[in-house]
Amino acid sequence: MSETFFGNPGFYARRAKTYDAMLGSPAYNKIFWGTHPRSYAGFAARAIGSSADPLLEVAVGTAQATALLHVASRRPTTLVDMSGPMLEMASESIRKASGGQIPTRITLECRDMLAQDGGQRYGTILGLGLLHLIPDLGPVFAGLGAQLEDRGTLYLASLIRGSARSNAYLKLLKSHGDIAEIRTPGELYELALDAGIGTVSVTHEGAMAYLVISR
Ligand SMILES: C[S@@+](CC[C@H](N)C(=O)[O-])C[C@H]1O[C@@H](n2cnc3c(N)ncnc32)[C@H](O)[C@@H]1O
Repeated sequence: MSETFFGNPGFYARRAKTYDAMLGSPAYNKIFWGTHPRSYAGFAARAIGSSADPLLEVAVGTAQATALLHVASRRPTTLVDMSGPMLEMASESIRKASGGQIPTRITLECRDMLAQDGGQRYGTILGLGLLHLIPDLGPVFAGLGAQLEDRGTLYLASLIRGSARSNAYLKLLKSHGDIAEIRTPGELYELALDAGIGTVSVTHEGAMAYLVISR
């Protein structure tokens, strides 16, 4: 966890606005990743709509894809990010989406996603744009699994190997230290299975994979 981007609150603090603009851009997502921002929202909607139990979104960033969905949901919801500036933008997105106030069932916490929150467990844990930032997935699956209810589900997304253009950009990002690993859907599947949490499925669109692990 000593990488610059995972577990380092300063890394995204300097990039919050740029990151938010890129993530929401259909052109950027199509050209580099062969996908579209609405796909991220679609995966998040599936997670948020999957149960009524408390939900945790980890590494929420600016909540670009999820603010409206969280406001529309009725679930007790906790949004966690390590970066204060990213979380500040997330709270602004939630406020805007709800027309003023942050609903009282939504809390935002600036902390490490693996730090246990007083033993609280969640029916759903969602993490978008996440697994490619993490060099060793074992401790992360274990740490998130420990926060999951007995019949809970993890919904995690990751950039993966894709088209020649995506792969070239991924290599560039890796060489700049902006991502940790470039994996295939098969590698993600095996790593998730090895975590021993439950049944695993992996789908992908372009260079974005969607991993669902159900207890
Ligand atoms: C690539 S961004 C993804 C943001 C958001 N999920 C999205 O798709 O727009 C990664 C986020 O993870 C946060 N982060 C990195 N390590 C973390 C950790 N250990 N605990 C909580 N948040 C972390 C960063 O601050 C950043 O906001």
